[in-house]
Amino acid sequence: MRKPIIAGNWKMNKTRDEALQFIYSVVDKLPAKDKLDSIICAPAIILRDLVKRQGDNLRIGAQNMHQNDSGAFTGEISASMLQTTGVEYVIIGHSERRQYYNETDFTVNQKVLKALEKNLKPIVCVGESLQEREENLTNNVLERQVTLALENVSKEDIDNVVIAYEPIWAIGTGKVASSVMANEACEYIRNLIKKLYSDSEAEKIRILYGGSVSTKTIEELMAQPNIDGGLVGGASLDADSFIKLCNEAVENI
Ligand code: 13P
Repeated sequence: MRKPIIAGNWKMNKTRDEALQFIYSVVDKLPAKDKLDSIICAPAIILRDLVKRQGDNLRIGAQNMHQNDSGAFTGEISASMLQTTGVEYVIIGHSERRQYYNETDFTVNQKVLKALEKNLKPIVCVGESLQEREENLTNNVLERQVTLALENVSKEDIDNVVIAYEPIWAIGTGKVASSVMANEACEYIRNLIKKLYSDSEAEKIRILYGGSVSTKTIEELMAQPNIDGGLVGGASLDADSFIKLCNEAVENI
């Protein structure tokens, strides 16, 4: 039985004060950590502040990192820097970074390897565009993205990887992939893991769905056999909504 995950991706939202207010409102209302991994992935500048106040049942993640250890990369943040904040997770390869910041399958792979080396758990995002879906290329895109992202990731390390299936056309649009469609894509990814690793790794790896997840859709998504949770943008910004998502995830797994 895989432990479900609800991960909020705040993107470029919340000042420090707003973030602290959120944390104080949610920390003692989240499911126990043996039932659910509740995660907030916040802007880098406030990670340490949030880690200090995360309590027992919440974990904090970053939204990106650089693949190099250090150097002349103005504005970037290394895995070691993230490590010193105490975060446990880092989102890698979000479609917004692929789209606006030249993230490629190659850099995604380098970042995944570096994150694992530094004991951070990568939440690796994959997913097709609307055009790719309409041209029936969803599985080709997923196969390419997953295979390249995990190149040289060992069997031991794959246990620390989370995959998030986020169809680009469903992000921030209010268009949620139907739960059946989302489950099919997550199942396809699970089968890829079986091919790349083994049956037992495929059984263990946690695969999330992301794209307009809300308190209205979480129940149906969680009921699907291959969906182990959600990577949630907009609906994770409100404390009550985040608490509800976390509790519903536990009730409906
Ligand atoms: P929304 O939930 O706002 O559609 O964002 C999804 C997402 O990109 C999470 O990483």
